[in-house]
Amino acid sequence: EKGGYKHYMAKEIAQQPTVVGEVLNAYVKDDRIAMNLGGIDFADVDRLSIVACGTAYYAGLVAKYWFEHYARLPIDIDVASEFRYREAPFAPKTLGVFVSQSGETADTLAALRYSAGKVDKIVSLINVPESSIARESDVAVEIHAGPEVSVASTKAFTCQLTCFAIMALKAAHDRGHLDDTGLAAHLADLRQLPGLMSHALTIDTATKEIAAKLAEARDVLFLGRGQMFPLALEGALKLKEISYIHAEGYASGELKHGPIALVDKATPTVVMAPHDGLFDKTVSNMQEVMARGGRVVLVSDARAAKEAGDGVWQSLALPEAPELIQPILYAIPAQLLAYHTAIAKGTDVDQPRNLAKSVTVE
Ligand code: M6R
Repeated sequence: EKGGYKHYMAKEIAQQPTVVGEVLNAYVKDDRIAMNLGGIDFADVDRLSIVACGTAYYAGLVAKYWFEHYARLPIDIDVASEFRYREAPFAPKTLGVFVSQSGETADTLAALRYSAGKVDKIVSLINVPESSIARESDVAVEIHAGPEVSVASTKAFTCQLTCFAIMALKAAHDRGHLDDTGLAAHLADLRQLPGLMSHALTIDTATKEIAAKLAEARDVLFLGRGQMFPLALEGALKLKEISYIHAEGYASGELKHGPIALVDKATPTVVMAPHDGLFDKTVSNMQEVMARGGRVVLVSDARAAKEAGDGVWQSLALPEAPELIQPILYAIPAQLLAYHTAIAKGTDVDQPRNLAKSVTVE
């Protein structure tokens, strides 16, 4: 049931502080990680091979930044439809990690079956414990999002990310890159998520106004750098899925290598840029867009928006947050921009044309 919301998507966006809180309750006990990974010690792991489709793939892409940065663990990441036919060789001591909300995505399941017996263990992040992917894994980590009905994935993404953040911290701890105090500090950061996500949801009205303008565009660019790059991809995917506006996500640094040719007055650029170590670089990319007459929607926090200076067309301010949890928080504006743009365009938000919730054929 929609529980008073106009669409399942709106309900599922609003549920995120609660379900992310449930993930934390399930897998974090005080200053310790209590995620059952069937005895995996990341000190004995040399590589992760993450495979998924769509939004679940973007969750894996964020995880790559976390595992590399915090745990110094090399990550391979692929979309399942490419991975399954590539006959990729595996290095020894590799874990296969498969991410799927439904647990029934045909390509992801085929990729899992290809990897079985070739990697040390099959780990999956799933929302449906009885699903095929869960059943065929050595370890199935439940993401605790609850039923997701809207075709556009929202709360599954933030729950997948929260699970991955916890796993990456466990890996960092197991591998000696994080001591008990450091771990406790990062877990405290994660615990801020439900509160910060509730706060982030209050941008709803401001987002509606921006969305009314985005609805007039034929094309929209999304830019992000570092761990915000996958969020740019996710923002673009959400927008194209439900509003049918052509959208592209790019790493900010790639702008000059092609996409800047698209910039004109009619093509808004959404810049996902919290105040992180790469902020100044992203601002200079943003200025390049503005210098060519492009209109920028800056999704950031108040301090960063102030530092970014004048000339921004529209801006959305989220609460400031520790770096680890920024990608999880920035999923909310990505989702809300798409949601309100789709409403402004009058499309079928929960059942967009040509798409199915679960893609069980390749
Ligand atoms: O059930 P899965 O997580 O395996 O689904 C993967 C994709 O099909 C899914 O994330 C799709 O991209 C969504 N419609 C995105 O909103």
